[in-house]
Amino acid sequence: VPLRALNTFGIEARARRLVRIRSARDVRQVVDHPELGRAPKFILGGGSNVLFTKDVCDALVVKMEVRGIRVVEDDARATLIEVGGGESWHDVVTWTLAQGFGGLENLALIPGTAGAAPVQNIGAYGLELSDRLESVDVVDFVTGRSATLPAAHCRFGYRDSIFKRELAGKSVITGIRLRLPKPWVPVAGYADVERWLQREGIGQPSPQTIFDAVCAIRRSKLPDPAQWGNAGSFFKNPVVNRTIRNEILEEHPDIVSYPLEDGTYKLAAAWMIAACGWKGQDLGKAGVHAQQALVLVNRGGASGADILALAHAIQDSVRRKFGLTLEPEPVIV
Ligand code: EPU
Repeated sequence: VPLRALNTFGIEARARRLVRIRSARDVRQVVDHPELGRAPKFILGGGSNVLFTKDVCDALVVKMEVRGIRVVEDDARATLIEVGGGESWHDVVTWTLAQGFGGLENLALIPGTAGAAPVQNIGAYGLELSDRLESVDVVDFVTGRSATLPAAHCRFGYRDSIFKRELAGKSVITGIRLRLPKPWVPVAGYADVERWLQREGIGQPSPQTIFDAVCAIRRSKLPDPAQWGNAGSFFKNPVVNRTIRNEILEEHPDIVSYPLEDGTYKLAAAWMIAACGWKGQDLGKAGVHAQQALVLVNRGGASGADILALAHAIQDSVRRKFGLTLEPEPVIV
């Protein structure tokens, strides 16, 4: 099965076997299948957070296509929404806004599926999925049993969760539940969002104006995968303690960093990559996006190895200049 249309990097790769899952029952059929049941599993949602560097030969590719979105509860304190894992995340955001429920607008235009959202705990403009997630429905790949995991059990961190670790390949997310609290409170403190609202003369933001701000900012910085294949940010922003941050600050006083609640600091990886001279540069058929240095793009016909070669060159530069190793964000196969 060709995978090129199933990954937003647009990498040419093939899978020996692929099944499309439309319900929890479909998962149980796979589990009960004498051959497929035993094969290692690789779960594919929208393919927007994966880099294929080779064909998938041993694993069974499980393509998540469970649909459905509905309100399950709506009272004075919150609205509870249930979403099939295969729904497009951005469609979920626009659907809730159209129904009059704010709360997800900061996460507009993030590519991928609802079921993939908890895996890397998608986040943008001051909000993370974990701030809105109630629970996750999973099916176990060994027993075929369904279970509902409350958000508190998902071990959420910055671009991290139990699904990237203990449960990787062991179970599949078939659906999620989102809790949108009432009254709606804007999350508008992110510098880019503040600036946009100010420029538009918006004093009292609404869910819709924040949605508009986020869409405008993303469109101006992030490449459209239809034009340049990419997987969003290719590296995580490194988190360091105060001592290391001060050491780096001494040599690089302009570095962009944000204090976190626990006393550590998040350093802007995009700033460091730009400081190494990589912004807008190409290495073979792979490139660094000119508007956002954290995003690697396929300049046309790049292989996974081409993208990885660029990623390694960037890691080497950043290590030499700042003494830090940038960690890739997408899943590398
Ligand atoms: N910056 C540069 N050069 C650049 C881009 C940014 O110096 O080329 C500096 C700017 O000074 C800016 C700071 O870096 O203040 C942060 O930039 P930005 O607001 O664009 O955010 P980011 O930290 O680079 C993260 C997420 C994005 C998310 C944005 C907005 C990660 C790995 N990335 O990027 O998420 O959209 O914040 O919240 O945390 C993704 O995960 O795929 C993704 C796109």
